[in-house]
Amino acid sequence: MSEDDGSLVPSIQLSNTVELPAIGLGTFKARGSSLKAIICCALKCGIRHIDTASVYKNESEIADAVEASKVPREDIFITSKIGPTQQGTVKAQLACDEILQRLRINYVDLVLIHWPGVAKLEVKSPRNATKRLETWRVLERFYRSGRVRAIGVSNYEQRHLQELLDCASIKPMVNQIEVHPRFSQKGLRAFCKQQNIAIVAYTSLGCGALLSHNTIQQIAQQCGQTPAQVLLRWGLQQGCAVIPKTTHEEYLRQYTEAKLLSWRLSAEQMQALEALNDGHKYCWNPAPVR
Ligand SMILES: NC(=O)c1ccc[n+]([C@@H]2O[C@H](COP(=O)([O-])OP(=O)(O)OC[C@H]3O[C@@H](n4cnc5c(N)ncnc54)[C@H](OP(=O)(O)O)[C@@H]3O)[C@@H](O)[C@H]2O)c1
Repeated sequence: MSEDDGSLVPSIQLSNTVELPAIGLGTFKARGSSLKAIICCALKCGIRHIDTASVYKNESEIADAVEASKVPREDIFITSKIGPTQQGTVKAQLACDEILQRLRINYVDLVLIHWPGVAKLEVKSPRNATKRLETWRVLERFYRSGRVRAIGVSNYEQRHLQELLDCASIKPMVNQIEVHPRFSQKGLRAFCKQQNIAIVAYTSLGCGALLSHNTIQQIAQQCGQTPAQVLLRWGLQQGCAVIPKTTHEEYLRQYTEAKLLSWRLSAEQMQALEALNDGHKYCWNPAPVR
């Protein structure tokens, strides 16, 4: 994402030149009619990036909504993820095929390894590393087959990434991680930048909890924006893509390019937000996974 003249462009170019739309819609825990309605609304509002995962069990419903929207497939960027129960050569291969089947598409834009660990293995087990590398080899083949436009990981710490970079034939293009002012992940983001790995920030709103934070509310008032817009704009200004989740159309309408790319946080406001970094996480912690 370039910032030469102070404005942000609406997509991030991945290391293989694929354009990842910087604003997407998260869908964790979204199901049924409210999911279909919010996806249709997002597509109507111009949001072109949808984040899902095999474990969210909503890919078929997303396919229904995308089909109903009549937005051409090639205009939509869809991410899915291989879950911890699907790691390893045989299961990951099946997982890739099933992602395409459930989404009813012949290519997917981005597939990630959801978590560095493997279901039912001790977090300290060295087999986590072996299995996730097997999964990566499957993703590399999937990429070479042209059925996925970009591949990456999620919840990888620097050492998980380093180990992957040491033996990957194709480098990961994305790391999707928890990033917000209370958990800004400066070190990991700098490492990813150096390796040309784009960051997709999840839980930008602290699962909703950050919206009532005093500093966020004060800055929102100064800018004439909502607290959610401040948090998302902060992520975008850090060079991350953002994927807020909501099932409310009135919230979603705050997250369009027009609403997030047309103003900016000042250096002082960015500093005040940076000062909130106290290491507080709202989601799971991959640090112990060997
Ligand atoms: N890779 C991973 O391991 C991982 C982990 C976590 C999340 N993710 C992805 O990232 C996405 C976003 O993260 P998240 O869902 O954990 O949390 P989030 O986007 O930080 O927050 C979502 C919560 O905030 C509420 N919300 C949204 N906008 C609001 C507003 N303007 N005012 C008040 N409440 C608002 C939503 O409620 P309503 O739905 O009721 O509007 C929802 O409960 C997920 O959906 C998923 O796609 C990935």
